[in-house]
Amino acid sequence: MSRFEKPTPVAHAMDGASYRALMRHQAGAVTVIAAGEVGARAGLTATAVSSLSDNPPTLLACIGRNASAHDVIATAGVFSINLLANDQEEIAQRFSGKRGLSGEARFTGLAWQTLKTGAPVLERALASLDCEVLESHGFTTHSIFIGRVIAGTFRAEAEPLLYFRGDYWKLESR
Ligand SMILES: Cc1cc2nc3c(=O)[nH]c(=O)nc-3n(C[C@H](O)[C@H](O)[C@H](O)COP(=O)(O)O)c2cc1C
Repeated sequence: MSRFEKPTPVAHAMDGASYRALMRHQAGAVTVIAAGEVGARAGLTATAVSSLSDNPPTLLACIGRNASAHDVIATAGVFSINLLANDQEEIAQRFSGKRGLSGEARFTGLAWQTLKTGAPVLERALASLDCEVLESHGFTTHSIFIGRVIAGTFRAEAEPLLYFRGDYWKLESR
């Protein structure tokens, strides 16, 4: 193979279960992504969130097309990323559908505010980023939403909720 020849991808080199068996070792910050108007809000628990650039301030979120929040985010054009604090596992369970609640019912009993875009922002999150959708790219089962961060809040004294090997974790020490 010459230096510039592209390696040929091996089709179906690994199945989804084997891939998940690897990816479960990636410890990740647990977020709740939220969008929509009061009365018709939707949200999901997500770890596939990453910083993209700081100039402009952007991030990306990978969201399954079948998630109830997917089309709400696409239609609203604005969303929030709420990094959960270590005492908010119950919120993560709720927004991943584990409590049998859907849509607006997931928001009930929690304090929400808006910052600049109007997207619902969880008041006591570790940090929240208020975003407008700059671009979205479909890829197989998911969409990659690129958000420009317009505003945000954080709690300097709070610590993160993490997800690792299929379970929720707290930081134990530095
Ligand atoms: C720890 C954790 C991380 C997740 N990360 C993502 C993610 O990054 N993207 C995504 O689309 N779904 C993710 N999910 C799944 C969604 O939370 C879940 O499918 C969704 O809320 C349920 O769909 P529904 O809103 O249609 O009921 C994750 C679930 C858990 C428990």
